[in-house]
Amino acid sequence: MKLSIQICQPYFRSTDRIKVFNYPITKLLNYSIFSMHLKITVLPGDGIGPEVTEQAVLVLQAVADGFGHQLQLQTKLIGGAALTAVNDPLPADTIESCLSSTAVLLGAVGSPAFDHNPGHLRPEAGLLRIRRELGAYANLRPAKFFPALEDSSPLRPELVRGTDIMIVRELLGGAYFGSPRSIEGEPGSRVAVNTMRYGEAEIERIARVAFDLAMKRRRKVLSVDKANVLECSRLWRDVVTRVGKDYPEVKLGHQYVDSAAMLLVQRPTDFDVLLTENMFGDILSDQAGGVVGSLGLLASASIGGPVGLYEPVHGSAPDIAGKGIANPLGAILSAAMLLRHSCQLETEAACIESAVSAVLSEGARTADLAGKGHAAISTAEMGHRVVEAVKAALV
Ligand code: IPM
Ligand code: MG
Repeated sequence: MKLSIQICQPYFRSTDRIKVFNYPITKLLNYSIFSMHLKITVLPGDGIGPEVTEQAVLVLQAVADGFGHQLQLQTKLIGGAALTAVNDPLPADTIESCLSSTAVLLGAVGSPAFDHNPGHLRPEAGLLRIRRELGAYANLRPAKFFPALEDSSPLRPELVRGTDIMIVRELLGGAYFGSPRSIEGEPGSRVAVNTMRYGEAEIERIARVAFDLAMKRRRKVLSVDKANVLECSRLWRDVVTRVGKDYPEVKLGHQYVDSAAMLLVQRPTDFDVLLTENMFGDILSDQAGGVVGSLGLLASASIGGPVGLYEPVHGSAPDIAGKGIANPLGAILSAAMLLRHSCQLETEAACIESAVSAVLSEGARTADLAGKGHAAISTAEMGHRVVEAVKAALV
């Protein structure tokens, strides 16, 4: 296996790094000639967020130690945890810390305790605001099938084998952020309004992210919309088609979202980059998690602004919170994406991904992956196994 070592300036922000040269080496090195200073804000949040984030931080620390980088961690409040402490789902202090970091690692937000709060005092409002504050318009959600998990997918192995999808979800537009939005009127005759809104520039910038990624993958973009019904989708299709002309090597297709949902379970291996708007992306990414075996495996990167935000796709899962049984791999793989996208530390990111693959091949399964009759390990044990695999790769 040929790997390359990157020589870079020490103690500079990732954007300041100067890549001097690349040269092949035959083995992972357990040191870098220069080290990086990684200032990470950790937002554990709610439900299983703190449990999985704890394991992701342990893995990040093992990789930082192994490669000689300095990790500076700051833990801040978001979501229900912040509402309980200071009655604000995104305190100013959290925003400041995030904006002055190399990257942000988030667990999950959401708790039934706040279900009856007004919109701006729900945990989710904190998540939507931090995405907006960080200008994170591009949400990358890879759904890759691990060969060791053939028995975990509800699909037949011959259908799911080889699945490798990159969902590119627009994250700052659509119905999530459009106004007006309201619930008005007297009980019994209330009316609710949400607005789905997209501008050409918003569509164009996310389309470019998708095409750029496709160029480094299998050169296929499937744009998912509902252009037979929604004006937003007609504009979406128009702009994506126009942007696609700048990428003649990429094969562009368009699919209505209902049909795309069906194809995702019928022929998941047909997908390469799936480009879509905010709400369709939310829905299809959970479905993709189910296809590859468990939503607990899925990681995400929310990028495009000055600081990237990294979080597992699974959410707070209050029903299993505090039991020590949640799958930390989505959070751990999010830490890998953090190293790749915010620090340009590709070798370090790949080291985490290989470690995850190795522990799954050895048979390590949390409850969501184990299935009936198979022994499941705890959140902490799974994290520990990944840490050990990282260390083993570095000796
Ligand atoms: C996700 C989540 C969030 C979203 C919620 C918690 C607001 O479901 O990241 O997929 O809808 O974006
Ligand atoms: Mg979701």
